Amino acid sequence: MPIAGSSDPTLQRMREFAFGDDDFEALRRLVKQLTGINLTDQKRELVYGRLSRRLRALNLTSFKDYRQILQEDGDELVNFCNAITTNLTSFFRENHHFEYLREQVLLKRANDPAGARRLRLWSSACSTGEEPYSIAMTVHEAIPDLRRWDIRVLATDLDSDVLNRAQRGLYGMDRVQGMDPRRLERFFHRTEEKSGAAYQVDSEVASLITFRQLNLMHELPMKGPLDVIFCRNVVIYFDKDTQRELFARMAKLQRPGDLLFLGHSESLFKVSNDYALIGKTVYRRV
Ligand SMILES: C[S@@+](CC[C@H](N)C(=O)[O-])C[C@H]1O[C@@H](n2cnc3c(N)ncnc32)[C@H](O)[C@@H]1O
Repeated sequence: MPIAGSSDPTLQRMREFAFGDDDFEALRRLVKQLTGINLTDQKRELVYGRLSRRLRALNLTSFKDYRQILQEDGDELVNFCNAITTNLTSFFRENHHFEYLREQVLLKRANDPAGARRLRLWSSACSTGEEPYSIAMTVHEAIPDLRRWDIRVLATDLDSDVLNRAQRGLYGMDRVQGMDPRRLERFFHRTEEKSGAAYQVDSEVASLITFRQLNLMHELPMKGPLDVIFCRNVVIYFDKDTQRELFARMAKLQRPGDLLFLGHSESLFKVSNDYALIGKTVYRRV
């Protein structure tokens, strides 16, 4: 018997669980609300595949039951986010942070003859690298005479697999297709892989970045000070006490005026008094 919601009859027969349009729409809305991630129609099978594992783990037989559990059980929301978003990222995600970095940090300093030419930025949950490469591209765009500056981007993640991919800097068409074509032209070169066309980040961008494995639950080994910390779309997975400890440790690495960017559904409300909210998920060390 065909399964409702899929237009592909073969897929309908193969599926273990019914997965209708209403299921996908509700889950897509929830993902957007919790993570800011916009799941396109092309992500439908990915959502089905990842969440089917949750259904099996919970011994459920339908996505309707799973949606019910998501409404009742806060813990399952965490598993849901992990299953969907664990390493999900994109170039220039939440682009307003890159605009802020450009306007309020890079251009301000460049236009101030006395502005410090040393800058340290940290992408603290960098996943497959799109975030630190977006930072490095923003730096290149704002500062043409980079040789007269001392700018470094540290990029860390807990997951060594994503970190290896980040370091490789090679992205399939699907990863770069949303990017401004001028950036693609300027900062990448096209290669042919077994899997098809791919884009390799140029060394001028990559050379600004140092990749390291780092668990945010542990002591932070760097000395600081850090002018800008990107801590985006990761603390959503941590409880409040863990967040308090983490931001207390981050605050020690920053001076008054330094910046911290959080993900769009994250906040320091009741978590830290060391930072003041100065823009949309933009915080300044006080
Ligand atoms: C959804 S991605 C966010 C990527 C990027 N910051 C962004 O906003 O697009 C979350 C990343 O956090 C990493 N992560 C989760 N727990 C972590 C921890 N305790 N320490 C360091 N990284 C962690 C995951 O491996 C994953 O790559």
